[in-house]
Amino acid sequence: MEQELVSLQTKAKEQLAAIENSSQLEEFRIQFLGRKGQFSTIMKNLGRVPKEDKPRMGQMANGARKEIEALYSEKQTALASCGKSPSQSSDAIDLTLPGRRPVIGKLHPVTQIMNEVCSIFEGLGFAVAEGPDVEHDHYNFEALNIPAHHPARDMHDTFYVSDSILLRTHTSPMQARIMETQQPPLRVIAPGKVYRCDSDITHTPMFHQVEGFLVDKNVSFADLKGILTIFTQKMFDKDLELRFRPSFFPFTEPSAEVDIACVICGGKGCRVCKRTGWLEILGAGMIDPEVFKKVGYNPEVYSGFAFGLGIERIAMLKYGIDDIRLYYENDLRFLSQF
Ligand code: PHE
Repeated sequence: MEQELVSLQTKAKEQLAAIENSSQLEEFRIQFLGRKGQFSTIMKNLGRVPKEDKPRMGQMANGARKEIEALYSEKQTALASCGKSPSQSSDAIDLTLPGRRPVIGKLHPVTQIMNEVCSIFEGLGFAVAEGPDVEHDHYNFEALNIPAHHPARDMHDTFYVSDSILLRTHTSPMQARIMETQQPPLRVIAPGKVYRCDSDITHTPMFHQVEGFLVDKNVSFADLKGILTIFTQKMFDKDLELRFRPSFFPFTEPSAEVDIACVICGGKGCRVCKRTGWLEILGAGMIDPEVFKKVGYNPEVYSGFAFGLGIERIAMLKYGIDDIRLYYENDLRFLSQF
């Protein structure tokens, strides 16, 4: 009987130590400490013990039971103070929790407009070409009929890297780069970043342009008008009127600045168009014979047009935004609207 008691005690201790939750603890209580539990059974067997051994065995059995009862209640408080069963502990998965949505990224509004502009011109048969942001003075100015000391250089507040290397001030250098290496007929657009030392609500030191040019035999100003009319209709989903204002660029002759009827007021006059009813969207013109000569094209045979449009400008008009700097502050509340 003594043997039995000792092994019961060890078994109870072992099982108790392995218990992890209250239902296991309750099972333990029934199995060991309950009315029909193993300790009660042992007590009942006390009757079979020889008389002289009875007091000692009784005491021993009681002691063993008390010890297990104490360990039992210790375990009970431990489980309760934990406040949760192990199935709810931090490393467990709670299948009832709502899922966390991943934040879905979007293309920057300027990228979206850029892609849209490119795909409209691609639909009109233009090929896309990209050139370097860090450019030679030669392509940015010289090849475009803007020699050193020409007053037209004043139109561009240039960031110089060295005497002859600069950050391109427009995408027009791509005209020279492409014409230098390819023969007409050409239909090319060149999207990309350009840089000018300028900053206010309508200017940022870096912005985006898309250059477009077409060179072939018998290209006329009417072709330029046609292409730009189709482009603005597709871009703004409206039959917008275009206005060509005479202007000057050293690499086009004649040159024009092109306005569209204000997309906000439809030409009646509002704050955005400064009551004029018109918005300027691009510079354009017929490619100057001097530019053709520099790349070895015969201006008697070929003619062509070129235009350069500001992407931020178009995005501002399309979305009705009056401060260009918003595009570059990286405020998600602003960006996620597009
Ligand atoms: N490159 C000119 C600018 O940035 C725009 C332009 C492009 C004008 C092509 C005429 C032809 O202002």
